[in-house]
Amino acid sequence: MTAAPTPVAPIRIPVHTGSRQSSIVIGDGVTQQLATLLDEAGVGKTRFVVSSPTVWKFHGETISRAMGRAEVVLIPDGERSKHLQTAARIFEPLIRGGADRGSAIVAVGGGVIGDVAGFAAATFLRGIAVAHVPTTLLAQVDSSIGGKVGVNHALGKNLIGAFHQPAVVITDPLVLKTLPRREFRSGLYEVVKYGMIASPDLFARLLRDTRAIFARDPDVLRPAIAESARIKAEVVGADEHESGPRRVLNFGHTIGHAFESVTKYRRFRHGEAIAHGMLAAADIAVERGVLDEADRRALATLISTLGPLPTITDLPLADLLAAVRRDKKVVNGRLNFVLCTKIGETAIVGDVTEDEMAATLRRMGVTT
Ligand SMILES: NC(=O)c1ccc[n+]([C@@H]2O[C@H](COP(=O)([O-])OP(=O)(O)OC[C@H]3O[C@@H](n4cnc5c(N)ncnc54)[C@H](O)[C@@H]3O)[C@@H](O)[C@H]2O)c1
Ligand SMILES: [Zn+2]
Repeated sequence: MTAAPTPVAPIRIPVHTGSRQSSIVIGDGVTQQLATLLDEAGVGKTRFVVSSPTVWKFHGETISRAMGRAEVVLIPDGERSKHLQTAARIFEPLIRGGADRGSAIVAVGGGVIGDVAGFAAATFLRGIAVAHVPTTLLAQVDSSIGGKVGVNHALGKNLIGAFHQPAVVITDPLVLKTLPRREFRSGLYEVVKYGMIASPDLFARLLRDTRAIFARDPDVLRPAIAESARIKAEVVGADEHESGPRRVLNFGHTIGHAFESVTKYRRFRHGEAIAHGMLAAADIAVERGVLDEADRRALATLISTLGPLPTITDLPLADLLAAVRRDKKVVNGRLNFVLCTKIGETAIVGDVTEDEMAATLRRMGVTT
């Protein structure tokens, strides 16, 4: 007879920002203890769950059972739903349900639900508490941490938003079992990013344990999610409002965002564009002589092991460079570019030229 597996105690990662002390709780099956964990974190007694029909189809029953008497508001997710009108759909049930300053929103979903529901929480009655229950890998390692919330405008992404730190983030690696493979891989590229900017150990484990990761083995996923969350929490703690150190999180994002915007956010999942962007940033670093070719090759190997990426070779070079120029990270005409100097270390430089980027993009196969 095999013994029942011993339950693993949840991992708790503290998040200290100027505006709030909170924590990220990561553990297999923690969604089943939602009410207790929300109580422990002091999250308001009247709770409104905001989720999407897709997420609810898979996890609604578990969450409902765990939450007890909470009203559920379902809004559509996916990038095209991330606008003010969707956020507005949250307000009416809050008002009709008698929400007050002591009420809370519990956002159960991917980055879109977290950003939209977080934005509603930031603005309703000038701010009520939000707790995140991230259900995509990207949301678990990235968007649920750090307090950035917001919606898109027809003229640009994430143009309307706020900083609103969550009261608690409750992360259950088991909910990822239902995530479509492409969404899962998209989140993995952000995990690769954390390895590249801050953790050679995480990077090595991704290379070594790829198979177990794709099997969504919680014993391998849990520590990878926790390490990523710890890195993000640390960076955010040092720089809540993105004035300095938080920029390292943009590794791969300067050129990655250009791939996304030139293809109107239709061709790539965010992480896929970032994977190309990291390869570009690594190439620039090698050309400058600040990164070893062996490290660039290790990154390329890991990224190709994780699966195919949509092509970039047909994208017009001039459009890509114009998109980089428009990116909001160009401050006072200076483009802050995150270079990796070895696996686990970065340098932010302000002098990467368009010629350098063009040369790299050509080496990556961009021809027109
Ligand atoms: N706030 C931040 O700091 C921050 C950081 C990074 C990204 N973001 C934002 O996050 C958004 C992207 O988030 P995302 O990648 O999670 O996309 P998403 O929220 O659109 O979710 C992707 C898809 O997965 C489905 N899904 C979610 N959980 C599931 C589950 N457990 N099982 C099955 N299906 C599930 C959703 O219904 C959706 O169709 C973007 O809008 C981006 O701007 C925000
Ligand atoms: Zn990203």
